[in-house]
Amino acid sequence: MPELDRFFIPQSVALIGASRTPRKIGYVMLESLKSSFKGPIYPINPQATEIAGLAVYPNVNEVKEPIDLAIIAVPAEKVKPVLEDCIKKKIQAAIVISAGFGEIGNKEGEMELQKLAKGKIRLLGPNCLGTYAKGLDMLFLPKDRMKRPPEGAISFITQSGAVGSAMLDDIAFEGVGISKFVSYGNAIDINELELLEYFAKDLGTRAIAAYIETLHDGNRFIEVCKRIVKSKPIVALKAGKTAKGGEAVLSHTGALAGPTEVYSAAFRQAGVIEAKTTEELFDFSKALATQPALRSNKIAIITNGGGFGILTADAAVLAGMELPELEKSTTKALQAHMPSYAIAKNPVDLTGDATAERYAGALTAMGKDPAIAGIIVIALVQTPQLEESVVDVIRDAKMYGKPIVAVMAGSDYTYKLVRRLEGFGVPVYPTPERAAKAMSVLWQYGLVLKQFAPPPAPEKKAAKLIAKKAKKAAKKVAKKAKKRR
Ligand code: COA
Repeated sequence: MPELDRFFIPQSVALIGASRTPRKIGYVMLESLKSSFKGPIYPINPQATEIAGLAVYPNVNEVKEPIDLAIIAVPAEKVKPVLEDCIKKKIQAAIVISAGFGEIGNKEGEMELQKLAKGKIRLLGPNCLGTYAKGLDMLFLPKDRMKRPPEGAISFITQSGAVGSAMLDDIAFEGVGISKFVSYGNAIDINELELLEYFAKDLGTRAIAAYIETLHDGNRFIEVCKRIVKSKPIVALKAGKTAKGGEAVLSHTGALAGPTEVYSAAFRQAGVIEAKTTEELFDFSKALATQPALRSNKIAIITNGGGFGILTADAAVLAGMELPELEKSTTKALQAHMPSYAIAKNPVDLTGDATAERYAGALTAMGKDPAIAGIIVIALVQTPQLEESVVDVIRDAKMYGKPIVAVMAGSDYTYKLVRRLEGFGVPVYPTPERAAKAMSVLWQYGLVLKQFAPPPAPEKKAAKLIAKKAKKAAKKVAKKAKKRR
């Protein structure tokens, strides 16, 4: 079993610092665990015998059964003796939620923990939010204040718990799914590199999003990412770019930030897609987790609102996309499903009285056109004749194997349909600019694949085939010759 599995799929969990007081961190964490984790939970608190209906133990060593993962949420000065108890109990994985270490200058306390843990127990944190995965919720943000995302294909690594939890909440609001989430804080043992390697092998992860304040080993980061991006895209947001931001990083996780250009160059070299804002981190990772890479930059736009079509075309071109003229056969196929006043060009304008059937015709025509590599579909669902089934029509267009990105702008009614479409694995954006950028990132990843994992050259492939056939033929001849002898 991979060592880090214990942090995401443990068999049993102890919460050290489980609190009797509702709304305290140790109480909310216990509530989150109770509502998600199916294995045994051992709350630890020397002052209590029962919390939230669960039997409480004064110390992990009073628990007879083995414990897979210890989650520690006691004040900083109590973490060391608690960790010693965990080691005595032979627990192999611990998450230290507690703050009050390197980030406030308590490097000594941090080093003590590091020394104590070395070779005995793997540590996540301190000063972190822990992990979140299917069947494991330890978040200290109450559910009535922060939504939890459904299961999905993005795995998210974050040095900051707050950035992580805010993004999880946003992701959940839109109905986008998460495979695994980890906030790693001061990273005195497990850092971003090990987590990247872990997610690279995780079957549920299709794209990795990373919020990074500092890299622990720049050269290894490049080397590791170069390997991972051959099969999984990585999107990274680097914080601490300004002098003031850099100072804040120091007092956040106790680490040094570096100049922006150095990080941007490292990301480029590593094939990592750089997000400049938290919004981009979310936008890009949901496109990359659900859509294939673009094989060329030639795309089509379908809309039921002319203005949105123009804005999207502008944004797409500015982001490096091309909108090719359509083949005659494609234009004909489009016209067969459109009234004469609709526009059978690229961008295709189905006009304000478009129906789901009109969308189906346009998506089919673009899906079948070999010159079109991807489609941005704009569905302004406020129009009276557009049925809700347009969402199913867009989903069905995935069968052409081309990246599809949607634009849906609006409020309550729109969001009801956005969540359905996101649930079908089509990324939806509220503005043309965000959708166009997301599409351009799919092209960027296409280029990364070409650079880092080029398909075997046709000549090489053919040469291999010829060599194989020749070997087979030679074997046959040798066999015949042997028979004759
Ligand atoms: N073993 C087990 N439980 C213990 C204990 C021990 N050795 N010592 C104390 N406890 C119990 C306490 O009795 C208390 O339970 P109670 O409320 O029922 O009395 C509980 O553990 C918590 O201890 P308490 O002293 O009340 O601490 P706290 O809840 O005020 O704060 C932290 C603890 C960890 C939340 C706090 O120190 C902290 O670090 N907060 C910031 C967390 C953070 O932001 N992390 C980074 C996120 S990105």
